[in-house]
Amino acid sequence: MGNIKIHIPPFKTQGIKSKLVPLIKENVRIDNSTLWIEPFMGSGVVGLNVAPRKAVFADLNPHIICFYNRLKSRELNSCMVAEYLHEQGALLAERGGEHYYHVRDKFNTEHDPLDFLFLNRSCFNGMIRFNRHNEFNVPYGHKPRRFAKAYITKIVNQVRHFEKMLESNDWIFLCQSFEKTIAMADENSFVYCDPPYIGRHVDYYDNWDESREIALLKCLSKSGVRYMLSTWDFNRYRNNPYIDLIWGACNKITQEHFYFVGAKETNRNMIMEALLTNYSTREEANDIASEHTAYGQMSLVFD
Ligand SMILES: C[S@@+](CC[C@H](N)C(=O)[O-])C[C@H]1O[C@@H](n2cnc3c(N)ncnc32)[C@H](O)[C@@H]1O
Repeated sequence: MGNIKIHIPPFKTQGIKSKLVPLIKENVRIDNSTLWIEPFMGSGVVGLNVAPRKAVFADLNPHIICFYNRLKSRELNSCMVAEYLHEQGALLAERGGEHYYHVRDKFNTEHDPLDFLFLNRSCFNGMIRFNRHNEFNVPYGHKPRRFAKAYITKIVNQVRHFEKMLESNDWIFLCQSFEKTIAMADENSFVYCDPPYIGRHVDYYDNWDESREIALLKCLSKSGVRYMLSTWDFNRYRNNPYIDLIWGACNKITQEHFYFVGAKETNRNMIMEALLTNYSTREEANDIASEHTAYGQMSLVFD
């Protein structure tokens, strides 16, 4: 049994695709000259692991984009993250929720990306949610000792890995909607899209409905580039109707994913994740199917 190492970025997001990374990597079509375009960056875990030489990462959420831009310009670095988390972690241990809400109020007026990282790692369930006034409104996760030494080291190493990738590659980060990002594609680009799942999220930066999904298809078709789209195929209650309605011309690869709602083992839910592509993966389909089974026997190691 082998291991597949997955690099985890410093931010957690809903719908993070860490477990799908091996299947995505196996099926994207890029080489050293490809411009990787990721219009729905979220945490950035996919691009971080695909590790393209040239990339455009974008998202409507300005705070993750700001964090990575500051890392790129070196206004921010892993040592500053370590120092900040030690300081704020000690205050959280001492004052608990009072300190969490103090940082949340401060972040909602000053928008310091370090405060965003602190909130993301100490809020309830690592959620990212903003109200319509653009205010981060996730409650406290009730773990005053959240920033133990080992946990800080883990986050700092995640930041350090991102720093290394920024040094050796040509990556840019933009806060903009997907239409503008996809319009940047040329014939040597590959677009990986992971839009919000319709009806799944309620968040100011993360609104999605059928008209958005159709607009996305139109943008991708107009660009004429190779693309891959992440979506869901079915769960135990229903099928995703948009796969046939909107993405019927695409090829589909699937992988089961289990997630928990709350802590109880009985609340384990299955969703069949789907990768849709506008290029054929059929020739490789048999290999992929067997590798796919093999993934089930491999352990994914998250750093
Ligand atoms: C499912 S998440 C992406 C998760 C990411 N692939 C990961 O593994 O962490 C969808 C992202 O799309 C962003 N988003 C929502 N609407 C958008 C839009 N119109 N244009 C660009 N980004 C958008 C959200 O802010 C969110 O970060």
